[in-house]
Amino acid sequence: MSYDPIPLLDLKAQYVTIRDEIEPLMRDVADTQWFIGGPHLDAFEKSLAAYCGAKHAIGCASGSDALLLSLIAVGVGAGDEVICPSYTFFATAGAIWRLGARPVWVDIDPITYNCTAESIRAAAAACTSLKAIMPVHLFGQSVDMCGMLEVAKELGVPLIEDAAQAIGSRDTTGAATGSRGTTGCFSFFPSKNLGGFGDGGMITTNDDDVAAHLRRLRNHGMDPKYYHQEVGLNSRLDAMQAAVLNAKLPHLDAWSDARGANAAHYDEMFTAAGASNTAGSMTAGTLPLLVPKQPASPSRHIYNQYVLRVPASVRDALRSHLVDEKIGHDVYYPVPLHIQECFQHLPAGDMSHTERAAAESIAIPIYSELTESQRTRVATTIINFVQAQTPVGV
Ligand SMILES: Cc1ncc(COP(=O)(O)O)c(C=O)c1O
Repeated sequence: MSYDPIPLLDLKAQYVTIRDEIEPLMRDVADTQWFIGGPHLDAFEKSLAAYCGAKHAIGCASGSDALLLSLIAVGVGAGDEVICPSYTFFATAGAIWRLGARPVWVDIDPITYNCTAESIRAAAAACTSLKAIMPVHLFGQSVDMCGMLEVAKELGVPLIEDAAQAIGSRDTTGAATGSRGTTGCFSFFPSKNLGGFGDGGMITTNDDDVAAHLRRLRNHGMDPKYYHQEVGLNSRLDAMQAAVLNAKLPHLDAWSDARGANAAHYDEMFTAAGASNTAGSMTAGTLPLLVPKQPASPSRHIYNQYVLRVPASVRDALRSHLVDEKIGHDVYYPVPLHIQECFQHLPAGDMSHTERAAAESIAIPIYSELTESQRTRVATTIINFVQAQTPVGV
């Protein structure tokens, strides 16, 4: 029997549901020819700040630039150290390196895939010029923000939240990501829960001085016009992107809830088949498969990705099988940053959870418009395949 392909992400399925809301706003940008700054950007910055429970939101060209601008704003420069996980998208560490600073790697918790306050505390003990910490809310789940704020305070350094994948997620106190750190950095890359029609980013902060500095920095360090106290970037969120994002923002919670419902359905099917969502070991279940653990309310996971783990010896065969079955999937991330060619020369401590996650993880379709029959087929295909493999000791 042949089935329709199930992509990892189907942006068209979402677009058709909101085309009538987006197109008039895009037409307005075209009619007014106001492409840089202007009412669409102002409206979006206000709405996003309110959505994240932050005092300020400052648009910029990408999530990568949100990180870079934040690091510049808190004074990171040549020779400084910034702690971040190795298990993340490259931009996290790229921003640090671009400033002549050095990433200091921390390992992750094997269940949440996030770094912990304890690992940051331990890494900081060996630092001589630590300037900031930059945890990542990976896959849409908040890090332990209470622990992070405590460790940042102890160390006397700013806390830059890499929230690129986690807009609308909430920590154990129910606070939104990006509302408690020195800055929160968001990406509107099209595959994010709130995705633009191209690149875009945003920085949130509650600090008036940091906000004013960021507004200057994103515009060549210029204030007032043609007067430069410092060198900044050209990094602005275009009016066209802001218009699209304004139309999408009111739908964001419903889309993230739909992802959560898909995740709950997957969890149910996988655990019924013997998968486990606890402990660091896949041997805890009768099926060698580890599913993500749903955090208890008021925490909120927004499932930018739904990431499973299977034994490393099975993972690549599973990938080939999913290709044959036309089921979209990907690996986030196959090569941890401390092993990347450009960073191999940097010291790294014990990164065993990171390395193991890179060898075992696989992301499967979770987008809001996934139908019940599609997600059932995805789960059934994976369960049948993993069951057919000889369980491997892990
Ligand atoms: C964790 C993380 N940080 C930073 C970024 C960079 O965002 P952008 O692609 O908008 O530059 C991404 C984007 O995928 C990301 O996933």
